[in-house]
Amino acid sequence: MNNFDNYAKDWNTETRIKCSHTIANSIKNNIKLNKNMDILDFGCGTGSLIFPLIDKVRTAHGIDLSSKMLDILKEKSKNHKNLTTELLGIFELSSVFDLIISSMVMHHIEDITKLAKKLYDSLNPNGVIALADLMEEDGSFHNSMDGVFSLGFSNEFLDKVFKSAGFKEIKIIENVFTVEKNCNKYSLFLLIGKK
Ligand SMILES: C[S@@+](CC[C@H](N)C(=O)[O-])C[C@H]1O[C@@H](n2cnc3c(N)ncnc32)[C@H](O)[C@@H]1O
Repeated sequence: MNNFDNYAKDWNTETRIKCSHTIANSIKNNIKLNKNMDILDFGCGTGSLIFPLIDKVRTAHGIDLSSKMLDILKEKSKNHKNLTTELLGIFELSSVFDLIISSMVMHHIEDITKLAKKLYDSLNPNGVIALADLMEEDGSFHNSMDGVFSLGFSNEFLDKVFKSAGFKEIKIIENVFTVEKNCNKYSLFLLIGKK
């Protein structure tokens, strides 16, 4: 059983939906989406990031390691014929896409260098990544550190690792969304990079 199976039922809080929609808007403002594009959301959870983008692209594929998260996405996706899902980890992926997106997944992945290379290899020529996650934080964001491998990410780290993987035109948009939690504020970035 995946840890996130326990959270699936109560995942779609108002804050999380607002966060996903804000990130989706930032993706739309920074990347020209079109009906020839096949996109992947890895760690898609219940799908709140991918839903606002579905109608702008040809196909949307969501993968996640939590079957319970995917069950909720599938329940909501019946009217979207171009949306598919798969119980799959990012490192097991074997297809290629024009755009790969994710939100709040990177800090759950141990080896970001390996992730950056995997994403590069999973893009078509001229493909793009748009990844949102926490900017550096003091370790207070999560109540349990089980499955958490990074306390957010610095611009320097992201720039170095994604450049080394081959990405160009790397752009890091800071403070794309701010989560207020336990009397603290946590900012998210959106990293865009081209193959
Ligand atoms: C914090 S949740 C974010 C869910 C969703 N993206 C959102 O913003 O609401 C992280 C998700 O990433 C998934 N995940 C973690 N590691 C993964 C991996 N290696 N491959 C695919 N999904 C992964 C988890 O199962 C979980 O659903």
